[in-house]
Amino acid sequence: MKKIIIDTDPGQDDALALMTAFGAKKEIKVLGITCVAGNVPLDLTSVNALKICELSGVYDVPVFRGSPAPLKRNLITAEHVHGKTGLDGTELSVKKKELELMSGVDFILDCAEKYTDEKITICALGPLTNIAKVLKKSPRVKDSLEEIILMGGGFFEGGNITPAAEFNIYVDPEAAKIVLGSGVKITMLPLDVTHKTLVQRDFLERLRVSGKNSAMEAAKLLDFFERYDVEKYGSQGGPLHDPNVIVYLLNPEIYNGKLVNVEIEVNSELTRGMTVVDWWHVTNRKPNAYYVNEVQENKFFETVLNKVLNLEI
Ligand code: RIB
Ligand code: CA
Repeated sequence: MKKIIIDTDPGQDDALALMTAFGAKKEIKVLGITCVAGNVPLDLTSVNALKICELSGVYDVPVFRGSPAPLKRNLITAEHVHGKTGLDGTELSVKKKELELMSGVDFILDCAEKYTDEKITICALGPLTNIAKVLKKSPRVKDSLEEIILMGGGFFEGGNITPAAEFNIYVDPEAAKIVLGSGVKITMLPLDVTHKTLVQRDFLERLRVSGKNSAMEAAKLLDFFERYDVEKYGSQGGPLHDPNVIVYLLNPEIYNGKLVNVEIEVNSELTRGMTVVDWWHVTNRKPNAYYVNEVQENKFFETVLNKVLNLEI
């Protein structure tokens, strides 16, 4: 049973990632959800995490507020993709769940200290501000983490928020630099792989006709979310980014990548947040991340569908 903490900026694709994790009860224990500002401000991402828990019928996973802004820069958000609420596409409510008082950063530090025999894995779905703060606050913590699996970056695929950078890294490049330089085992799921998991019509239909409220609401979220990328890329479906982090945790064998060096651009405004991937080992820079660029797309969607349909409501 993998013990994980999901750090997230919900976001419709974050929602599907959380629901996939919640539906994988036999394989994953979600210790908690830490929220970060990203797609929309923290006040919204934190409430959105509560909404997704209640949509999924999950009341025993604590939700924490994390960082309202990047380490050094002003927050940049993505309402143009996710809508004003961050979960546009349907109206979700929160009736019972509340945010914890402890900070998300302290929660992660507490868990890292507590779970020493079976170390925790951090699944990062948004800007890496919270994770960087954890590593800065207690450098020793890197020895207490099993792995950081993150959605972020892009190289062969270029960027999505600028020609050079992917959104999560772009929002807080200094945080990404700290995480990539930490020495923790890191697996990156960049645009090079998430652009190969474009929402399939059949997948959406299976959610819609499931008769399960959570799955039907998830389909509405995706209908809204993918409109922007379908328009932008002229593709049949929009890339379903964040669930790749959870599916990688569940079925790493359907992915392929390479252990390479990844550096983050923090100085240039033109290429701010670019993930410079030494794919062909042309430098002596030490490999610091397993960079995933291939996935068996149908198995990815099968896994997400099975786990989301596994939810009780
Ligand atoms: O670039 C895609 C990433 O940015 C995803 O995590 C999406 O939710 C947004 O946070
Ligand atoms: Ca996200």
